[in-house]
Amino acid sequence: MYKIAVLPGDGIGPEVIEQSIKIFKILMENEQVKYNIQEGLIGAIAIDLTGKALPDETLDLCRKSDAVLMGAVGHPKYDLDPTAKIRPEQGLLKIRKELGLYANIRPIATYSLLNSCSPLKEHLVRNVDFVVYRELTGGIYFGNKGRNENGTEAFDNCIYSVDEIEKIGHMAFKAARKRRKKLTLVDKANVLETSRLWRETVQKMSKDYPDISLDFMFVDAAAMRIIQNPGYFDVILTENMFGDILTDEASVITGSIGMLPSASVGEKTALFEPVHGSFPEGAGKNIANPYAAILSMGMMLEYLEMTNAEKKIKKAIEIAIQKGIVTPEINPAKNYTTSEVGDWLVQYLGTI
Ligand code: IPM
Ligand code: MG
Repeated sequence: MYKIAVLPGDGIGPEVIEQSIKIFKILMENEQVKYNIQEGLIGAIAIDLTGKALPDETLDLCRKSDAVLMGAVGHPKYDLDPTAKIRPEQGLLKIRKELGLYANIRPIATYSLLNSCSPLKEHLVRNVDFVVYRELTGGIYFGNKGRNENGTEAFDNCIYSVDEIEKIGHMAFKAARKRRKKLTLVDKANVLETSRLWRETVQKMSKDYPDISLDFMFVDAAAMRIIQNPGYFDVILTENMFGDILTDEASVITGSIGMLPSASVGEKTALFEPVHGSFPEGAGKNIANPYAAILSMGMMLEYLEMTNAEKKIKKAIEIAIQKGIVTPEINPAKNYTTSEVGDWLVQYLGTI
């Protein structure tokens, strides 16, 4: 019996999550596995209804669950108001911290049929396949922050400990072991002390992973390399903010940000969410690409050791794309709605 907490959140979150739940149910029935799904509030919707971006009930629900499937958080009314005291994103940061989700795993894979949608030349995106291990509960996101007395100066502290670096470091080395055995630490060690600690720590750790070839790259150079030669990378390990920026950059080279899933794992219940965010302009229009949310649910099944079901999802999505079952951002001329994409997969998975 799997207990799944579902947090649809804001914007297109509820629409894409609805599709992944439809598919989750079909797969569970196929595999004859029992489940229990409970919904919780997070983000702008939670602020509207409860005054909090992450109500305690949601956190309790997540703690009691085996995994959390999340849509997206964010609303433009907060983006345009830097003085807002409560922000939807606080819900996301809090859930990461409270569940101890110190590693955010974002695989960047391309689908050959979507290569022509990439802003890069086709030969550069062919066979791009790397994964970013982004530290998620430390660094500048969580350091002390504040203003001076008259508000004319602000600061955000960036702090990392050896322990924090080692925890995600081990995960990244092990991931590389299962892949092409190449790990790139991305940092800014020519300027930042925290980056020098990352480098020193990861260098020491590499003695325990002699089979992995480790290299180091400054974040500005890595940003260039992702555009010039994305095929270079296998596993990228990096700190919180660099990982945030680089994964958005990496996501667009695949042709659609709507294809990228993510997993946040750590000490307790893991959380799975699409990379694309709330896309408020698209909300309620049944146009959002649900594949990232569905693939995130697939990563959840893999985490729950239902590897077979995860493989089925990936395969089904490949076939659907080949058949042109895609949303408007991929094919403006001929496309399917969010729910039609979900329906197609449900129907397909019900027959295999
Ligand atoms: C992400 C998002 C979040 C982050 C925001 C919404 C707080 O951009 O998950 O990448 O910066 O971590
Ligand atoms: Mg981001």
